[in-house]
Amino acid sequence: MQTRIRPATIADAEAIALVHVVGWRESYRGLVPDRVIDGQSVAGRTATWRRALDAERPATSVMVAELGNAVVGFAAGGPRRGDAFSHDGELYAIYVRRIAQGAGIGRALVCDLAGALAGRGFGTLALWVLRDNLAARQFYIRLGGRVVAERIDDDGPVKLAEVAYGWNDLAALCRRGARPAA
Ligand SMILES: CC(C)(COP(=O)(O)OP(=O)(O)OC[C@H]1O[C@@H](n2cnc3c(N)ncnc32)[C@H](O)[C@@H]1OP(=O)(O)O)[C@@H](O)C(=O)NCCC(=O)NCCS
Repeated sequence: MQTRIRPATIADAEAIALVHVVGWRESYRGLVPDRVIDGQSVAGRTATWRRALDAERPATSVMVAELGNAVVGFAAGGPRRGDAFSHDGELYAIYVRRIAQGAGIGRALVCDLAGALAGRGFGTLALWVLRDNLAARQFYIRLGGRVVAERIDDDGPVKLAEVAYGWNDLAALCRRGARPAA
């Protein structure tokens, strides 16, 4: 079955929320306390994504990956939040359903999101990932990212150690097999 990457619309809010909530359950057990994971609801996330996608000129760009008619992944990004890194763009979230992982969908989502952000005038990109989310960190390393910052995030209900990966050139995110320079 063919995968299609396209910009999200407000009609995708619930499907994105479902991938988001299931992504937490599939990937964050042991990394984030269960009560935080189990406190996520599709209804709550749908409302948040609907607000993000509803704006006339949304600050957040969102791409979805469809396999057949089902949304199996998404990536969202926009202006940098905070000043821990100097990159102007930030990848806020990327999730691919476990059943669809390892097939190039994550890479394609990042590439298309980078294209959308470049079209809005952004030149560079960084993101925060849980320090202990080693699988996602391997993915970012494979895409050529370099560690650019570290922090303890205490904005939410628990303190979480995070690292930031950055790219100094958005175009590098679409280069097949990009690796960090030696
Ligand atoms: C991280 C994630 C988005 C990657 O998406 P994906 O569709 O599985 O990744 P892809 O198939 O596009 O992989 C792209 C490259 O990264 C590599 N890669 C992906 N995961 C990897 C891992 N765990 N270890 C080593 N390499 C990995 C792939 O081998 C591939 O390399 P290649 O294209 O050079 O052959 C996905 O696994 C996911 O949703 N994880 C759970 C949620 C999560 O942790 N999100 C990140 C929050 S910050």
